[in-house]
Amino acid sequence: MSKYNFDELVNRKNSQSYKWDVKDNELPMWVADMDFHMLPDIKVAIQKRLDIDAFGYCGVPKEYYESYKNWWKRRHNVDIDVNSMVYSEGVVASIDSILKHIVKPGSGIIVQSPVYHVFYHCIENNGHFIKNNQLLYKKGQYCIDFDGLEELLKDSTNLVLLLCNPHNPVGRIWDEEELKRIVDLCKQHNVLLISDEIHCDITEPGHQYNSILKYSEDAIALLAPSKAFNLAGLKSSVVVTRNKSLLKEIQNGLGEDDLGEPNYFACDATIAAFDKGDQWIDELNQYLLNNKKYIQEYLKKNLHDIHLVDIKATYLLWLDISKYTSDSESFAKELRKKTGLFLSNGKQFGRGGESFLRMNIATSLDNVKDACERLNKFIKSN
Ligand SMILES: Cc1ncc(COP(=O)(O)O)c(C=O)c1O
Repeated sequence: MSKYNFDELVNRKNSQSYKWDVKDNELPMWVADMDFHMLPDIKVAIQKRLDIDAFGYCGVPKEYYESYKNWWKRRHNVDIDVNSMVYSEGVVASIDSILKHIVKPGSGIIVQSPVYHVFYHCIENNGHFIKNNQLLYKKGQYCIDFDGLEELLKDSTNLVLLLCNPHNPVGRIWDEEELKRIVDLCKQHNVLLISDEIHCDITEPGHQYNSILKYSEDAIALLAPSKAFNLAGLKSSVVVTRNKSLLKEIQNGLGEDDLGEPNYFACDATIAAFDKGDQWIDELNQYLLNNKKYIQEYLKKNLHDIHLVDIKATYLLWLDISKYTSDSESFAKELRKKTGLFLSNGKQFGRGGESFLRMNIATSLDNVKDACERLNKFIKSN
């Protein structure tokens, strides 16, 4: 029997939420955070901290790292030594800091579009160049263009591969064979491998992500509770690598950037999430699967010219609207103007995203139904 109720949502209006800072009739399904009530144990942990009437500077307790270690062992079958982790304010902050301090200025950083758009900002803001190996999209499915990747890895000016694992926005869980091949290629060409694993806990029941840490001693993995438990506003994450000297350099860089100290609530909230959140995540993933199935059926029945990519991870659906447009930016703008449904346009994720929309389904089934009706109305009226 279910313990948690995902049908009942938090009213996030007027709460400084990016996502919900919209007009009354609008339905926002864009920014990657969730509308559900959080795991109650997190609130209890925060309340306990709240009861201490002084929010001074604080450090990272050893229980914080242990909670990651135990969660990754229990949920993902990966052994992570607590000494191979350092705290960082966030995954994007870590990417920025690593690219700034560890990587020679003016280097090529390889990404695989369409990909989380902030990667591009991190690369350019730190004086590097974007080197894109666009994902292959065949028969409605995504895979890595290994020939293209190897070409880029061979170029000695390209020093980093920034992997999104699982991949936002196409929802792929990279499999063992793909990851081993990536690790081998990076090693062969002396390229630093950074694996952003922030979406790893949101997977379809029966499907398991593979951490890069299973296959590499030198890669960097970026882990966090923020997507799984909706804690993005608390700023909690770790950088993990078994390469001790690299970890030390990263820690120094994070220190220089003032990113290495947690806010007053971040650690206890994270510990509660990872120590007590198993059932909540399992039920969440089941709820998200039901939302996805509803949309799948709805599209099949009413909008069969929209192809829903078969995502196995993240709560971000990737809708192929190429039968209607190759300009998803204008499409999404008009959709919002005419129906209030606010989705992310695929163009912002780079090449290959021009005729896609990204839909965040981490909301109630009622909202998902409403979104389908709005989309249908828009398409039928055009
Ligand atoms: C792939 C990916 N990495 C990082 C982030 C943001 O991480 P943080 O809030 O820890 O900076 C997001 C947010 O959507 C994301 O999708």
